[in-house]
Amino acid sequence: MNVLLVGSGGREHAIAWKLAQSKGLSKLYTAPGNPGTAQCGQNVPIGSDDTDKLLDFARQNSVGLVVVGPEAPLAAGLVDVFEEAGIKAFGPSAAAAQLEADKAFAKQLMRSSSISTAESRIFDRFSDAKAYIASRDEPVVVKATGLAQGKGVFVCDDPADGILAAERIMVNRTFGSAGDRIVVEDKLLGEEASILAFVDGRNIYVMESSQDHKPIGDGDTGPNTGGMGAYSPAPVVTDELMNQITREVFVPLVDGMNRNDRPYRGVLYAGLMITGGGPRVLEFNVRFGDPETQPILARLKSDLLEVLLAVCDGTLDRVTLKWDPQPAVCVVMASGGYPADYEKGKPITGLEEARQLDNVIVFHAGTKEQDGSILTNGGRVLGVTALGKTIAGAKARAYEAVDKIKFEGAYCRRDIADKAVRTTSRK
Ligand code: AMP
Ligand code: GLY
Repeated sequence: MNVLLVGSGGREHAIAWKLAQSKGLSKLYTAPGNPGTAQCGQNVPIGSDDTDKLLDFARQNSVGLVVVGPEAPLAAGLVDVFEEAGIKAFGPSAAAAQLEADKAFAKQLMRSSSISTAESRIFDRFSDAKAYIASRDEPVVVKATGLAQGKGVFVCDDPADGILAAERIMVNRTFGSAGDRIVVEDKLLGEEASILAFVDGRNIYVMESSQDHKPIGDGDTGPNTGGMGAYSPAPVVTDELMNQITREVFVPLVDGMNRNDRPYRGVLYAGLMITGGGPRVLEFNVRFGDPETQPILARLKSDLLEVLLAVCDGTLDRVTLKWDPQPAVCVVMASGGYPADYEKGKPITGLEEARQLDNVIVFHAGTKEQDGSILTNGGRVLGVTALGKTIAGAKARAYEAVDKIKFEGAYCRRDIADKAVRTTSRK
């Protein structure tokens, strides 16, 4: 079968890398892709927002399955377009993708489905938000309700900072119309985990756990990013907790979406805070996480194409997945300055040396190829991923690979997976 993968990040390289190993794959196309996906198939120079061209391409190249990676084309209805044209597409409909594209909708659905989450209020006017935040003594979290590439959330220990965040979103319009409304919610304490599940409208298959590192700085300091590194499994998520999350988050959510006439198909990602009082949902995403997908798929032993097709066909109950018991760690190498302004076009060296290390996969994210050289082309540049016998071993191997790769202004966190190493060594 010919597959068209839409997107160009580290997540898409990981998906392409795994699809390329599938028995049923004839040809893999990635639009627009990056130099990493080009190693797994053929890149096609069509943007993920160019629906008409993507549809034409799929028709002309006998594409049997379209896999949509990022949230923006999902929210814009790309899956609906392919399905109407009679081409299988992996991912939720635009109506179901509102779960990520509209945090106010997600909050309402969680409330009506009795899913545990932070107490929250929704505001359309800055003056109302300001009065509410000023009236509170506790820390608040201020979120643009629309899509903001993971950067529209501000955790504010001081109400004055909360007001500044609301002003940035609603008055200065840093995130454009994504900030027309905001959610203001209580700050939750605990350790975070990302749980991703395949959902076919009815059946749920929860994948191995993972943990992201959202803030830019070591020790979880500084502004939030799209994610600076991830590992899988996350030892904070015990088997018992995983069962509880399935029962109390995924099952009611999938039921709630059906009640709302928005049946959910695709990957459903729950961002959770594991608090003293149990797991609470921070957010839902309607796609594979980035960078969580890199360590998760590095551990998947089963055929990815078969699972994606089972989701599309509603036959997920017939699927069992095999996972590598070895933990995986992914360290993101970013351009200096990210998540604020950064420069592009810096030559990257050492990729081959890093790739030659055992159990290492260097996933490309913001890179481009020019005259035979690989240059930086985005904020998050590479996702250097390693497997190891222990989480500490995987971490050491990932950083060994990171240290072979050089580009001007390269930045990475140095503490990816430390929380897991600590939890594991306490056991
Ligand atoms: P979100 O996109 O809503 O998951 O938020 C991005 C990040 O902000 C999360 O991964 C957390 O690190 C942090 N965050 C969001 N909501 C809360 C909350 N209610 N309490 C504490 N931290 C939060
Ligand atoms: N790593 C966070 C996300 O994919 O949204």
